[in-house]
Amino acid sequence: MLASLAKAFDQAAVREIEVEYLGRSGKFNDIMKSLKDLSDEEKRTVGKLANVSKIELEAAVQNKYSMLESAAFDVIADTEWMDVTVPGKKPELGHRHLISKFIDDLEVIFGRMGFSVAEGPDVETEHYNFDQLNMPSDHPSRDMQDTFWIKNLNRMVLRTQTSPVQIRHMESHEPPIRIIGMGKTFRKDNDATHSPMFHQIEGLMVDTDVSIANLKAVLTHFLQQVFEDSSIKTRFRTSYFPFVEPGMEVDCTCPICHGEGKLSDGVPCTLCKQCGWLEIGGAGMVHPKVLENVGYDSNKYTGFAFGFGIDRMAMIKYRINHLRLLFENDLRFITQF
Ligand code: DAH
Repeated sequence: MLASLAKAFDQAAVREIEVEYLGRSGKFNDIMKSLKDLSDEEKRTVGKLANVSKIELEAAVQNKYSMLESAAFDVIADTEWMDVTVPGKKPELGHRHLISKFIDDLEVIFGRMGFSVAEGPDVETEHYNFDQLNMPSDHPSRDMQDTFWIKNLNRMVLRTQTSPVQIRHMESHEPPIRIIGMGKTFRKDNDATHSPMFHQIEGLMVDTDVSIANLKAVLTHFLQQVFEDSSIKTRFRTSYFPFVEPGMEVDCTCPICHGEGKLSDGVPCTLCKQCGWLEIGGAGMVHPKVLENVGYDSNKYTGFAFGFGIDRMAMIKYRINHLRLLFENDLRFITQF
């Protein structure tokens, strides 16, 4: 039995041997049964011997079982091991885009001045994007904005400006009004400083006594807040936008050289090209025609409006020198903010 046990190579073979020798009708029991034919003296000696051998044999069987079991574990350990010290693979996490965060900041700054956020669609009708803003189709001002018209959709455009948000809001609300509208705008422009998709912030305040003084105060405070510099000064130059009268360009002193045109060590300022001023956007007093278009009494109400480029302001604030960086979505850039 011990010889066959030694040759057994799996648990089933051991079990077979166990049954053959130690089972109920196994060889060992045959021996025990044959004891009855022996003398008492012989019974005692053989019986004792048989008991001792049985215990030994049972131990040998158990021993073989555990040997086979640990051999099986050795195989698993050899074939299924893993190195728990290997560094794990971290899933790459995304990061909020600078422009999304900046838009939140603008909302907070205007929120503190009592402005709430209004919305409008990215795909606009010609009516809201142009007509209601005093830009009829034969008007040359439309050429200032090279428009993406939507194919097969009658007179629909990708909005060229956020100004239609003003109209939509005034149509569904009565003064007093204090809103900003922010989001994507689109024009057929694509060069180092223009992208076909860019972001604008539009602002509108309408009430019974709104004046240019309010416009100047709100925009000056806004620019000081956004660039986190209370020494920033503003300048308003006469300009033309069909939906305001008078219309103006809004400039502010360069936050890098503080209006000096050069840095403290005399190095010329490249951001403002040494002029000390940066052009930020357009503004003006809402044209009476626009107020009438939405059913307001232009003798009773006045208002101001403005439109600034969000991407440009973010570039100035965070010293970003290439517009493309904002749209390439390279995490090495995005995670810096
Ligand atoms: N919508 C103008 C543009 O995209 C910017 C603008 C200028 C908006 C003057 C205004 C404004 O509300 O009063 O060029």
